[in-house]
Amino acid sequence: MPAPVIKLLETPEEMTLVEDLQRAVWRGSETDVVPAHIFITAIHNGGLVIGAFLEGELIGFVFGFPGLDFTPDGPRPKHCSHMMGVKPGRRDAGIGFALKRAQWQMVRKQGIDHITWTYDPLLSRNARLNIAKLGAVCNTYRRSEYGDMRDSLNAGLPSDRFQVDWWVNTRRVERRLSKRARAPLKLDAFSKANLQPLYTPLAWTEDLICPPEHFSPLEGRLLLVEIPSDFDAVKEADLALARDWRFFTREFFETAFAAGYIVTDFVYDEGKSFYVLSNGESTLE
Ligand SMILES: CC(C)(COP(=O)(O)OP(=O)(O)OC[C@H]1O[C@@H](n2cnc3c(N)ncnc32)[C@H](O)[C@@H]1OP(=O)(O)O)[C@@H](O)C(=O)NCCC(=O)NCCS
Repeated sequence: MPAPVIKLLETPEEMTLVEDLQRAVWRGSETDVVPAHIFITAIHNGGLVIGAFLEGELIGFVFGFPGLDFTPDGPRPKHCSHMMGVKPGRRDAGIGFALKRAQWQMVRKQGIDHITWTYDPLLSRNARLNIAKLGAVCNTYRRSEYGDMRDSLNAGLPSDRFQVDWWVNTRRVERRLSKRARAPLKLDAFSKANLQPLYTPLAWTEDLICPPEHFSPLEGRLLLVEIPSDFDAVKEADLALARDWRFFTREFFETAFAAGYIVTDFVYDEGKSFYVLSNGESTLE
């Protein structure tokens, strides 16, 4: 695939293209399509709508707007990244990464050093992009963040989300976005360091795994925890199993974050998916 053209979107006509693209990405709920007039108001007030075009067709977008962090020292500006979507059939070709890279550059130019967004922690592809490739970190778990969602990707499950922190001026993030980004992490790096997964999911069918009943007490500086590699397939095959994964990982991540662990990496290797959590380590290096 040739490289897409990445550019800032500014006109009402471009915003209607983004409306159409949302219908292709999150099928089934017209109510959930962000309308052109909201994009226009947002971009006239510091918001950014960035598009990826291939041969003149819009195939991806990312949308965010300025927001506030409420810190003990008072409110502090941040960029709240609300939506990103790539057309089905165009995924896994680096479009999402290219859009976030452009957002990173533009937000830095606005003098803002922090971007946050939410995603479903059970989506392995999103985790690989957000945590492993972009260098975002997470210690905030939000239960049922958007209530009962109606679109085809989210209907039927509590809308629990990770809220990730992307500290855009840190060496960690600059290194991940540099031209010589690190190679994907492999599982054998962990086995060589004697780090074992905290729990082993049980085989459910040939293709599906189910969560264990319990996880061991959390100890040590690093934890490795497995999630399904294709949660959309789990949802489609067995919604009750998908709910089990939701409630198991909800309990696990809430316990881990309360104990001081932070999600700092993600491994997708040999068709398996693992979060890496760290305790007692700076996440801003
Ligand atoms: C999330 C989304 C925007 C990512 O866009 P994208 O263009 O596919 O992203 P990229 O290609 O830059 O990165 C995806 C990475 O995940 C990898 N990947 C693919 N399947 C995977 C899986 N099952 N598990 C882990 N990683 C996977 C890809 O190979 C790629 O990594 P690589 O570049 O090292 O090969 C896109 O998948 C999408 O539109 N999803 C539906 C809507 C959504 O979830 N939006 C985000 C929340 S608002």
